[in-house]
Amino acid sequence: MADNKATLKAGDKVVELPILSGTAGHDVIDIRTLGSQGYFTFDPGFMATGSCESSITYIDGAKGILLHRGYSIEDLARDSDYIEVCYMLLHDKTPTTQEYRDFKDTITRHTLVHDQVNNFFRGFRRDAHPMAMLCGTVGAMASFYHDDLDISDPEQRLRSAYRLVAKMPTLVAMCYKYNIGQPFVYPRNDLSYAENFLNMMFSVPAENYKISPVVSRAVDRIFTLHADHEQNASTSTVRLAGSSGANPYACIAAGVASLWGPAHGGANEACLNMLQEIGSVDRIPEFIDRAKDKNDPFRLMGFGHRVYKNFDPRATVMRESCHEVLAELNIDDPLLNVAMELERIALSDPYFAEKKLFPNVDFYSGIILKAIGIPTNMFTCIFALARTVGWVSHWHEMLSQPGQKIGRPRQLYTGEAQRKYNKIEK
Ligand code: SDX
Repeated sequence: MADNKATLKAGDKVVELPILSGTAGHDVIDIRTLGSQGYFTFDPGFMATGSCESSITYIDGAKGILLHRGYSIEDLARDSDYIEVCYMLLHDKTPTTQEYRDFKDTITRHTLVHDQVNNFFRGFRRDAHPMAMLCGTVGAMASFYHDDLDISDPEQRLRSAYRLVAKMPTLVAMCYKYNIGQPFVYPRNDLSYAENFLNMMFSVPAENYKISPVVSRAVDRIFTLHADHEQNASTSTVRLAGSSGANPYACIAAGVASLWGPAHGGANEACLNMLQEIGSVDRIPEFIDRAKDKNDPFRLMGFGHRVYKNFDPRATVMRESCHEVLAELNIDDPLLNVAMELERIALSDPYFAEKKLFPNVDFYSGIILKAIGIPTNMFTCIFALARTVGWVSHWHEMLSQPGQKIGRPRQLYTGEAQRKYNKIEK
């Protein structure tokens, strides 16, 4: 609505700023002209700042709504699959049957990495954290594909996006195999995306790995639940890196690095470590008290969210999947009992209600991944694998938009005013 304006009175100035409306969610105040009026806005942590215009994902934090291209995460997790979600995130439409088949075939045929990638792993210690290896090898992919990349060409951008979506499972599985000293397993074109990942993770030369349909469906659903999430820290990192014209492999490596933090994608690994540290239901009160103690840096990992203020719809789906997988695999994991009791206690505690803290996507995912046999230190790599399609979709969308500028925030300077420099001998 063009005539929708905000009036800002600052000092002796009155500035009119356009208010822009999207399809849903908050209107935004367009402050792009504010700098010329002598002011910057100040919003560390971007609590109330929109960095871009996007049509990929919509989150309503108050209502616990998550839409990908308008489709609810609940519908997609129940009735779609990760390959179809990847297509719609990249192409802003659901595929026809033929488009689905062609896309799936294209992804399948890009899963192999250059054989020299194997050599990169030789430089890592065997006990290197898988995320350290993933950061390194994803960035190194630029050395194989950098020369055929014109990021102003949509077709070449999509080809890089397809390569990254296809090769991340192979690289993640290589990180795991290198950690445990087993030979790398080549991708197989006769398997689905999730089946192929499980086979590369758990197959050994001595015997064929039997893929459980329940497990592969659960893994596919975990990928879907992690596919994209609007302008989170790692996606914003990818957008900022991409705004300088950096190649997509470097941008995705930056996203992997940002996701690694325990406040973000590293929370699933930290959450399972926390559940193991708690160990039993009777120790939960001690940790609840620590989480409330302002002098204790301890936080309940897997709880809280910047945007969701009532519940994380992905956690709801993940919780159901967690029970299904453990029942199907006939696993009675005491950690699940600790998690369920921790959730019950936290949600009935006024402190957490007041702070709007509840389980997020990372709270239950670790229990499923552990049940499948994936070690804790691999959890964030799984998150990075699944989120790659979100990262490349935002990167592609940003570069498709006209007038794209390099991201260059300003600051509130609180250092020294200019002063005379005296040489050290004086
Ligand atoms: C992901 O952005 C995304 O979309 C991310 C993500 C995605 O899909 O990309 O959804 C994935 O990163 C999920 C979040 C995973 N992180 C964790 O589970 C780590 C534990 N949670 C937090 O550290 C925290 O809740 C954040 C980082 C998730 C959100 O932090 P905010 O929005 O910056 O809120 P905050 O740190 O300012 O906390 C507000 C208050 C504080 O108390 P006061 O200073 O006001 O007294 O709530 C408290 C915090 O101390 N608090 C917690 C807590 N989280 C916040 N107290 C105990 N345990 C927690 N987990």
